[in-house]
Amino acid sequence: MSVDGAFDRRRDQSQAINAGNGNGVLVSTAMATTYCLTLSPNTEHKPDSYEDLALEFNPLLFSCLERYLPPSILSSSRDSKVHFMQEILHKYSPEGERIRAQKHRDYRQKIISHYQPLNKELYSMHATAFFLPGFIKAIHENTEESFRSIMSEPAPGIFTFEILQPDFCEALVKEVENIEKWVCDTKCKIMRPNTMNRYGAVLDDFGMEAMLEKLMEDFVRPMSKVFYPEVGGSTLDSHHGFVVLYGIDKDVDLGFHVDDAEVTLNICLGQKFSGGELFFRGVRCEKHVNTETQAEEILDYSHVPGRAVLHRGRHRHGARATTDGKRINLILWCRSSVFRELRKYQKDFSSWCGECQREKKERQQASISATKEELLKKEGELTS
Ligand SMILES: [Fe+2]
Ligand SMILES: [Zn+2]
Repeated sequence: MSVDGAFDRRRDQSQAINAGNGNGVLVSTAMATTYCLTLSPNTEHKPDSYEDLALEFNPLLFSCLERYLPPSILSSSRDSKVHFMQEILHKYSPEGERIRAQKHRDYRQKIISHYQPLNKELYSMHATAFFLPGFIKAIHENTEESFRSIMSEPAPGIFTFEILQPDFCEALVKEVENIEKWVCDTKCKIMRPNTMNRYGAVLDDFGMEAMLEKLMEDFVRPMSKVFYPEVGGSTLDSHHGFVVLYGIDKDVDLGFHVDDAEVTLNICLGQKFSGGELFFRGVRCEKHVNTETQAEEILDYSHVPGRAVLHRGRHRHGARATTDGKRINLILWCRSSVFRELRKYQKDFSSWCGECQREKKERQQASISATKEELLKKEGELTS
C-alpha cells in the first residue's frame, strides 16, 4: 500500500464518520438505537475486513465483534457497522485516552499528507524484496526447528539471525535520510521514537504502519509464539516501529533500560560504524527491574548490518557508544494487549523474570531443607 493510498483511505474513513455525525443520518439512527450486541454470535456470517481503515481501535476487534451485531446492523454497510461498533467500544475507552489518540491520528495524518516518500515500494510488504530467502523459508516452514536453523541463541531468549537484503537496508537508510531532510527543511517538530532517543523517527507516523504491522503479524509473531509464549508471544496485536540514529553528531549511546514491548525486533541497517554494542543483563519484571545481574545473564552483542536481534522487551539492555561513523537501527516493539491485561492480576513471573525464578528456587530449596531437617529429627527420635 502506498502512502497516498493509505492516506486516501484514511480520508475516506474520516469523511464517512463525519458525514454520519454531520448530516444527521447516522446520528438520528444513533438516537433511536440502543448500542447492544447479541448474546450469541452469528457463526454463519463471514465478517468484513477492517484492515484498510485507520480506526481508533484494532481492526481485528471489529472483525471479531461483527458476528455479535444485531441482524439489522449486520446486513448494513461497512461504515454503519464501524459506527455501531465504535459506539460500543467508546464505552470502554476513557475520555482522556480518546482525546490523546485523536490528536495522534491528526498528527500522523498531517505528516502523511505532506511528506513525499522517496521510495514507495518500502511502504507495503514485499517479503521477497525485503528479506533473505533463508529467512522467508524458515518463516514459511513455521517450526521451531526451521527458526533455529537460521538462528544463534548467544544467551537464553536472545536470538540473532540474518534477515534483510542489503538493497533493502540501503533503500531504507536513504528513506530515513529523506525523512531527516524533510524534517529539517520544513522545521516540522516530529515526535522522536521514545523518551531515550533524540534522533530518529517513528516510521508508523510516516506511513509505514501497515507494512510494519505485517512484519509483526507474519514474521515476528510466528517466532514469538514459539520462543516467548509466556509473555504473550502468540497474541502480539500492536506495534511501535521506528529507526534510531547513532553517531558522534547523533545519539552516542543508550542507557540501561527495558522496552515498552513484550517482544523487540532490533535490526541493524548499517552503515559503517565502530562500537555501538548492545549489552544484555537478564529479564526482569516491574518489581525486580533494578535487581542485581547474575554472571550467566551477561551478554554483549556487536551489531552486523542486515542482522536482527530478537528479545523479550523486559530483557534489560543498553547500547555502548558508537565511537565512529553512523549506525542506523530499525526497531519494532511488539505488544500484546491480552498479556498486559492478564499481568495486572499476577504476582509471580517466574516463567520469564530471572529474579522471580531465583526467589522461587530459593523458596523451594528452603522448603526441601526444612523437610529434610524434619525427617532427620524424626529419624533421630525413633532411633534414640
Ligand atoms: Fe531498547
Ligand atoms: Zn520478578
